[in-house]
Amino acid sequence: MSALAAARGGMNRVLRPFGVQMVRGRSDDPAIQPFLSARRTLTAARRADLSIEDYIDRRSAVPGATVETVNALFRLADSREKMQRICEIGAGSGRYAARVIVSEHPDTYEIYETAGDWLPRLRSLPNVVLQPADGHTLSATPTGSVDLVHAHKVFVYLPLVVTIGYLDEMARVVRPGGIVAFDVVNEDCLDDEMTRNWVSSRATLYCMISRSWLLGHLAQRGLSLLGGHFVPLSGGRTELLVFRKA
Ligand SMILES: C[S@@+](CC[C@H](N)C(=O)[O-])C[C@H]1O[C@@H](n2cnc3c(N)ncnc32)[C@H](O)[C@@H]1O
Repeated sequence: MSALAAARGGMNRVLRPFGVQMVRGRSDDPAIQPFLSARRTLTAARRADLSIEDYIDRRSAVPGATVETVNALFRLADSREKMQRICEIGAGSGRYAARVIVSEHPDTYEIYETAGDWLPRLRSLPNVVLQPADGHTLSATPTGSVDLVHAHKVFVYLPLVVTIGYLDEMARVVRPGGIVAFDVVNEDCLDDEMTRNWVSSRATLYCMISRSWLLGHLAQRGLSLLGGHFVPLSGGRTELLVFRKA
């Protein structure tokens, strides 16, 4: 136990008779990575007279990046059936969720998001169910229950072991014939310009995952690749990969 946790425990014993306790403001689980402040980002978007989607696209990628990604996902998925149950990991501002909901009108749109300050905004989207996000699993979602499970700009910065755990969970919750989609930085994304940009801007945030390892790992879990599409990421690009479950 850390000194801070011990001090908090001691303080809480003193406060208990008053029905009050101290809690940590931020998780110290390395799986749970910080995101933009909701308050500051929403204020900046309002000041710039932009929707939150346009504001984040311009700030962190290029204008139109969100809609282009969602269009690529549906093009590669080539799904003819309506997606009734959808799950998203790390929805953040909800920019992808809003687009997917408008396109598919799902009965249920489950979200696992660890950043508490974005939850009120996510909760306001139609048919959203905020699931308990432990930072590692999709534990509230039954096996083989969703038509689409997806994540965007999440596996570019989570520790590898957390990403692998989520990939296994995505393979578990998707129904046979359903779609798994997410983007990563892999060896096909990393060209000279991108590595130069990252080195000069000291972009220590991002991590790479091997494409061939990923395809092999997911193939063992019944997921076959339908296709990939490069999408912009600040100072570079990621590859959106779309799979179907056998
Ligand atoms: C870089 S942001 C991307 C947000 C959104 N998908 C987008 O592209 O605008 C990563 C998101 O994942 C969330 N997140 C971080 N760690 C997580 C974890 N272990 N499990 C689930 N979500 C996590 C963050 O709070 C944030 O909303």
